[in-house]
Amino acid sequence: PADEKLRDLLLAHIHDVPDYPQPGVMFKDITPLLADATAFAALTDALAEACKRHGATKVVGLEARGFILGAPAAVGAGLGFVPVRKAGKLPGATLAQAYELEYGTAEIEMHADAVGPGDRVLVIDDVLATGGTAEASVRLIRRAGAEVAGVVVLMELGFLPGRERLSGALEGAPLEAL
Ligand code: PRP
Repeated sequence: PADEKLRDLLLAHIHDVPDYPQPGVMFKDITPLLADATAFAALTDALAEACKRHGATKVVGLEARGFILGAPAAVGAGLGFVPVRKAGKLPGATLAQAYELEYGTAEIEMHADAVGPGDRVLVIDDVLATGGTAEASVRLIRRAGAEVAGVVVLMELGFLPGRERLSGALEGAPLEAL
């Protein structure tokens, strides 16, 4: 099936880096995938197709790797792109959303007027780990008055409870991992 072929192609270009950024962590490095024209195009096409399938009117990408994946997906689907950034990086009036990390808290921001009523927003990122970043982005989109079309990630770390954490905020909207 097409999905399995895509999955194999993507997996073949994602490299495991042990003990990065900390001892005991297996980092999933997507830079080989980005550097391969065929694999990157296949990923971009699949993300653009997801935008269309989920009826999105805008794409939100999560800093930083969600920018690399979300921007070409938005262009491919004929949609605009909205960056959700770490706090303090956006110049205009923002909505901010704090969320819990394993130790401490983090905060992300979106321009307050970037999405609004009438928009159906698809969130794109590389990895769903604990789900905190995606959950906060979904809350930001709703607070801006827009509808959430779903969350699409390249990979979901299935050994972490990210999907469960995100499910409440999604309110039935889909979470898809390529
Ligand atoms: C990583 C990843 C996701 C997020 C997933 O980004 O790219 O955005 O963490 O983790 P979570 O599901 O536990 O929230 P990171 O915070 O490392 O930011 P960066 O891409 O700017 O380095």
